[in-house]
Amino acid sequence: EVTEQAVAVLGAAFEAIGIPARFDWRIFGGAAIDETGEPFPATTREACLGADAVLLGAVGGSSWDDLEPARRPERGLLELRNTLGTFANLRPVQQYATLADASAIRSDAIAGVDLLVVRELTGGIYFGPGREFVSEGERIAESVMVYSETEIRRIARVAFEAARSRRGRVVSVDKANVLDVSRLWRAVVSEVHAREYADVSLSHGYIDSTAMRLVQDPASFDVILTANLFGDILSDLAGALPGSLGMLPSSCIGGSCGIYEPVHGSAPDIAGTGKANPYGAILSGAMLLNDLGHTRAATAVRLAVGRALDAGYHTSDLARGSKAPVSTAEAGSAVLANLSDAFGDTSGGSKASKIAATH
Ligand code: IPM
Ligand code: MN
Repeated sequence: EVTEQAVAVLGAAFEAIGIPARFDWRIFGGAAIDETGEPFPATTREACLGADAVLLGAVGGSSWDDLEPARRPERGLLELRNTLGTFANLRPVQQYATLADASAIRSDAIAGVDLLVVRELTGGIYFGPGREFVSEGERIAESVMVYSETEIRRIARVAFEAARSRRGRVVSVDKANVLDVSRLWRAVVSEVHAREYADVSLSHGYIDSTAMRLVQDPASFDVILTANLFGDILSDLAGALPGSLGMLPSSCIGGSCGIYEPVHGSAPDIAGTGKANPYGAILSGAMLLNDLGHTRAATAVRLAVGRALDAGYHTSDLARGSKAPVSTAEAGSAVLANLSDAFGDTSGGSKASKIAATH
């Protein structure tokens, strides 16, 4: 449902800049398992490998939860990221003043939140060796967190580069007080910083205390650099800041083409009811436009989302008090309705476009 809205907005944005975009829909995750038995079938793989960008919908649902690990929807997602080599997952988190009431965090604490989680995406415990076995009649399982210095170096560079175009501050998050893999992480991040990015400020934090600080003082963060598992956890936690995980977009970059997907999952409890928040998916479309070089279109989409929110188009995850929530389609239509005006405001460096450009 949310992907449909994102594609409608993307289509309109491409049309506005005169680019004849072609959308090639492919099955993936649960839908693909139902049709082919596999979460990431070859036809989908070929299409992704040949595309300029992949816009991804969420993949899971209770009907596929009991499958063996290799056939689960999540496995398809990991294979897609690995196949395209997208080792860097960028998850920006931003506060919208108009959603202040929606957040579980006090409005003075979330005011001005504008942070970026840079999550390593094709390594760590997600891709290390894992197994379950029986020893002396007892079931034992292990999952190993592995990082090479090459993997750490390249994700660190993504975070430092991002910081240069933002507020110049990186906090690298690990568990170096306990884990060997984190001690290497910390050492390599510090080396890259000293050699190549001395102009950026770097600090290190432990995953536990950083999680706390992210709730207590979220506005103090600029770029958070972290490993696959820690980034998965922190980015969902960060979803509580703007009020709903449904607001968060993401991009997966560094590979043969980018993958753009909202941070949220498939929300099986509300699937098909028209309640889902499409803004995260639409904002993922803005990230896609930006990475393809259509920065003005990207800005216009973000502006149009901001205006739809300002005008009160809040889905049920965002609506508070006596205000009736809007449906997925109504929220998407509100963005579309604001898009051409938003394009008008992106030319000539108006105040509005300057605000949007910082998003
Ligand atoms: C995410 C999701 C995925 C992940 C799951 C569905 C495999 O939670 O993109 O954050 O853990 O990476
Ligand atoms: Mn997640």
